[in-house]
Amino acid sequence: MRKPLISGNWKMNHNHFDAITLVQKLSYVIDRHDVEAVEVSVHPPFTDLRSVQTVLEADKIPLALGAQNCHWEEKGAFTGEVSPAMLAKLNVRYVIVGHSERRELFGETDEDVNRKVKAVLKFAMTPIMCCGETLAEREAGATEAKVLRQVNAGLAGLDAAVVATMVVAYEPIWAIGTGRTASVEDAQAVCGLIRRTIADTFGPAAADGVRIQYGGSVKADNAKELMGQPDIDGALVGGASLEAESFAAIVGYRLMD
Ligand code: PGA
Repeated sequence: MRKPLISGNWKMNHNHFDAITLVQKLSYVIDRHDVEAVEVSVHPPFTDLRSVQTVLEADKIPLALGAQNCHWEEKGAFTGEVSPAMLAKLNVRYVIVGHSERRELFGETDEDVNRKVKAVLKFAMTPIMCCGETLAEREAGATEAKVLRQVNAGLAGLDAAVVATMVVAYEPIWAIGTGRTASVEDAQAVCGLIRRTIADTFGPAAADGVRIQYGGSVKADNAKELMGQPDIDGALVGGASLEAESFAAIVGYRLMD
């Protein structure tokens, strides 16, 4: 059984003081039963990571620490970059790789994403590798080709046993931060396609193990239906993860009407 993973991607929001307040609030409002059934990660900006790590560990808060990006090299002359070794040292468990904002705004290529996925794995962390199409690509009927290209390139050269431990996030770009969500049928169709492709390339055990998240305007009122789909094993949540109540409501999706 795949344990669902709900991840809060804070993007470039919350300084380290706000971050401490938010994780402390989360520890009160997230139901302990939910974190037994569902794994939850938070992905603050780099400058908050050490503060959040300290609070999570000191107060034994059952949230996994995540990062939003990293470089693929361990160290060196890469001004402004953060290495996977540095993240591992902070007990970061999940690293988002290839988010569409990284790809579209900062020019990350499929090859960069593949290098980052390998680097995250090398330091015993789990990549959450993102993929998804633009509105123009969807309207042109190019969704499948785009997503499959990103998935195949991002996972290239990995062992099947490693793929089984990974997380892939399907995030249609037109649904991110827009309030528009893919229909559950469309979200399930693309997530199912991703799993079948992984089965074709890496075999049934990898496809069975890999967790596939949906992302793009996930809210408390659509989380349960999305999470009920056979190939959706979690959610990557942006805007609704910035407040404790709205994120806790998504984490508690199983009890929603
Ligand atoms: P959103 O962002 O929930 O605000 O649409 C999702 C994401 O970009 O991960």
